[in-house]
Amino acid sequence: MTGTGHASMRIDTEAGSILCDPWVNPAYFASWFPFPDNSQLDWETLGDCDYLYVSHLHRDHFDAAHLKRYVSKRATVLLPEYPTSQLEDELRDLGFTKFYKTVSDEVHELDGGLKIMIQALTSPTDGPIGDSSLWVEHDGVRVLNQNDARPTDLQRFAELGHVHAHMLQFSGAIWYPMVYELPQSAKTAFGKQKRDRQFDRTWRYIDDLNASWVFPIAGPPCFLDDELWQFNDIFGDEGNIFPDQSVFLSEYAKVGGTNGIVLLPGSVTELTTESAKTEHPTDVDEYFANKETHLKAYKERQEATIAREKASWSHPEIDVLAGMKARIEPLLDESVRLAQGVGGPVRFDLTSPEGDVVESIVVDFPGKEVRVAADEKVRYRFRTERRLIEHLLHIDEGDWVNSLFLSCRFSAARIGQYNEFVYAFFKCLSEERLQYAEGWYESRRPDAEDIVLGGWKFQRRCPHLNADLTRFGIVDGNTLTCQLHGWRFDLASGRCLTSVGHEIRSEKAPERPAE
Ligand code: FES
Repeated sequence: MTGTGHASMRIDTEAGSILCDPWVNPAYFASWFPFPDNSQLDWETLGDCDYLYVSHLHRDHFDAAHLKRYVSKRATVLLPEYPTSQLEDELRDLGFTKFYKTVSDEVHELDGGLKIMIQALTSPTDGPIGDSSLWVEHDGVRVLNQNDARPTDLQRFAELGHVHAHMLQFSGAIWYPMVYELPQSAKTAFGKQKRDRQFDRTWRYIDDLNASWVFPIAGPPCFLDDELWQFNDIFGDEGNIFPDQSVFLSEYAKVGGTNGIVLLPGSVTELTTESAKTEHPTDVDEYFANKETHLKAYKERQEATIAREKASWSHPEIDVLAGMKARIEPLLDESVRLAQGVGGPVRFDLTSPEGDVVESIVVDFPGKEVRVAADEKVRYRFRTERRLIEHLLHIDEGDWVNSLFLSCRFSAARIGQYNEFVYAFFKCLSEERLQYAEGWYESRRPDAEDIVLGGWKFQRRCPHLNADLTRFGIVDGNTLTCQLHGWRFDLASGRCLTSVGHEIRSEKAPERPAE
């Protein structure tokens, strides 16, 4: 196994090689960079692989430019079973044509006896609707690349036999609490709690699986723009949520962990059922002891890239209010669960690059409109540069979490608790995603709803991707067509006529009693 940076690795076996999540170019408005720098690796050779596994669409796992330039299009993509085809579509757009569609939680045997299993998580809070882990077995050696997925437990992997290498996330990957407009002391206290929770979760997963060797991966990123430099864990701040691999090793030792292995970009571990021998391209202790110096040199190397990216964000010709109205209002209209969950207006204060507020816009969830902010109390407020929103509208971005929020280039204030629905909504700025998230939350209600249409009573949410059938359903005789993707269902038997599985709960609607 070769460490290739962040959540990326290449697994070489006699039955073929798998390249996982190669990420090199900065993500999220040039805020996140892989740490340590992996741009010097021989990507031509690494990209010449038999299989490619992209765990999910977060941009620190899915690096379109890098995949396009460096990864062989002869590679077969090992595809997680996600409810939408977006990952496959985006990979096809990059030139990949060979896809091996896995079934979640099922072991698949590839050529040469290479076995794989991908567990796909599909709740709206997992990744940008989906995150996954890859299990690999060859010649009795088992590896779990859990990546940054957070299944409730690792039972399904554990029951396949003892795992020799377990790779998992241990560091932070979010904007909380740094972006909140809170006194520094509160931020430090919340950050410390968060850092402790991250480690506790990591220890729980490690205990669950009890693998021979544990590899801390999938973070932390590093921040090379001056504006974000303070987020790097180099200031001895116990509230920093981005501890690095060397901190992992020392914290792990405190709870008795002695089997941790750090892979730098270019480190190679030779793994057998009995042993793990690792060779590093540089002295690991020296690297972390002089982390700040290495980061500063990395920052200098990336200055031109950051400047180039920043220069591409401004689109002053864009009318942001009109653009947000056009993008968001139709979705507000369709949203029931998410809109109820948000429960109040959300204000965006848009600033000039110098920090002056130039425009304030409210996304009014109860009022179902996007409008100029009035002199009103709001429960949630974001403050960010106007040019970032201009850019999101310019590129027609449908997921503001996987772009704006993960960039940490904003500040936030709220009254009351964290509200998952606010972020779920802003990651679902397309009809397909919104319908999926709405249906997902709906189906988790104990009293999942039925509707009556055309003489039939059936479930309100489409068994395909959860579209609201009061809006998208058309009944003709016994046949229901959902207009979101055109799937058809026989209401008499509940059978889906378009695809195997996906039965619908349906029955004849009771006759109305005669007046
Ligand atoms: S959600 Fe796709 S056909 Fe209904």
